[in-house]
Amino acid sequence: MTPTWVRLAELGASVLFILALKGLSSPKTARRGNLLGAAGATIATIVAFFYGEKFYGGPIQHLPLIIVATAIGSVIGWIAAKRVQMTQMPQMVALFNGVGGGAAAVVSTIEFLSAGNPAQTRAALAATVFTVLVGSVSFTGSILTFMKLQELMTSRPVVIPAGRYITSLVGLLTIGSAIVLVTWLDSAGNASSSILFVLLGLSLIMGLLLVLPVGGADVPIVISLLNAFTGLSVAASGYVLGNVLLIVAGTLVGASGTLLTRMMAQAMGRPLTNTLFGAFTAKATTAAGPAEDRPVKSASPEDVAIMLAYARKVIIVPGYGLAVAQAQNTIRELVELLQAKGISVDYAIHPVAGRMPGHMNVLLAEANVPYEQLKEMDEINPEFAETDVALVVGANDVVNPAARNDPSAPIYGMPILNVDQAQQVVFLKRSMRPGFAGIENEVLFDPRTSLLFGDAKESLTKVVSAVKNL
Ligand code: TAP
Repeated sequence: MTPTWVRLAELGASVLFILALKGLSSPKTARRGNLLGAAGATIATIVAFFYGEKFYGGPIQHLPLIIVATAIGSVIGWIAAKRVQMTQMPQMVALFNGVGGGAAAVVSTIEFLSAGNPAQTRAALAATVFTVLVGSVSFTGSILTFMKLQELMTSRPVVIPAGRYITSLVGLLTIGSAIVLVTWLDSAGNASSSILFVLLGLSLIMGLLLVLPVGGADVPIVISLLNAFTGLSVAASGYVLGNVLLIVAGTLVGASGTLLTRMMAQAMGRPLTNTLFGAFTAKATTAAGPAEDRPVKSASPEDVAIMLAYARKVIIVPGYGLAVAQAQNTIRELVELLQAKGISVDYAIHPVAGRMPGHMNVLLAEANVPYEQLKEMDEINPEFAETDVALVVGANDVVNPAARNDPSAPIYGMPILNVDQAQQVVFLKRSMRPGFAGIENEVLFDPRTSLLFGDAKESLTKVVSAVKNL
């Protein structure tokens, strides 16, 4: 019988996982949530380590190897987490997620090959097959999303000839082999290990085929979806191994990943099927003419300082470039200067500004910007019409009216911040390059728009000293 301390530790770890998710739902409590989750994972590992009999039917074997592997993994994880830039977080999540899915698939494959199949019930066999399938899809899919975001390959959609037919065929073969594996047993009651390897290969290919046609702004959504897949495969592997904690943690990841995927797809204003399969049916994007040929109005830091200092109402629109430039403290300093002059200033937070959910909230919280100054899109949008200056700092797609007007644009349907309704718009960016979605933004060419070229932090520092000198 399982000792009481093991049951209690499992219960404690499960509660910690749930509290961790609750904490992660707000930037104020996210740090604590993260620590609670880490504590839960540590308890789970210790339980498995000291009470392995329950899961492995006997004392743990290969202890030195396990300790060495754990040490190597911990050191790599520690260094990677210390070094990663906040803007690289999505690819780090993709990489860790892929490794998780791959590990679940490997554990289940080994369990299948070593447990002796007749010992497995049909339900356990189905769970094993599910873990191998979903874990493998998640593994190759996540590695590919990592490569796209890290720019180790093009981040645009890659559509192979007859792609949709090949994907459908591989999908059918994958599901078919999974069904055969669960239903067709030989005379000794064993499921076929050769079909398991076929399933493994097909699932790995399926992961690549699913992610190749997804590009640009949709890649982070796919990371979240694959995260949910990994959670489900881990939960299924928990069933195979009889490990309650894996079931609890996997289900939580599966459910929260699914919800997050839905919320991100909604914030981008399109169904998930469009994200995944849109490239197969997409028309060519209408190019807005060579940007360099069209005039834009550039401004100096002093010009921008005057525009801001003589405004009554200013809205700041932070985006990915603010995070790249690490300009969160400088923007807060500028805002404080303007507020001291009696100017009303708010931050307009678009739900997908940056590269991950809550990116701007976390970034600005880090710089001690009060939460009350951060306004959500629906709340702030009606205010642009009465705003003197919209200061767009390293944002592009989230203020691009092509999302409203151009059905061929990849961001068409995404709700945007209405900066084009402000009296004046100032963009802080380094060049005329487009945003993540790779499309031109007409607001840049509007006569009411000024551009201050340069790194956002350097530009803001110059604007701050110009405001001080006024
Ligand atoms: P983007 O459209 O990617 O625009 C970022 C802008 O920042 C670019 O115009 C870039 O122009 C500028 N920039 C980059 N580095 C800079 C620096 N050091 N200093 C100054 N400017 C710099 O960003 P956004 O408006 O925040 O939009 C987010 C995009 O990510 C959307 O397409 C969204 O759909 C996608 N996405 C986000 C999420 C989440 S949850 N956040 C999820 C899925 C997709 P230069 O290169 O000229 O400087």
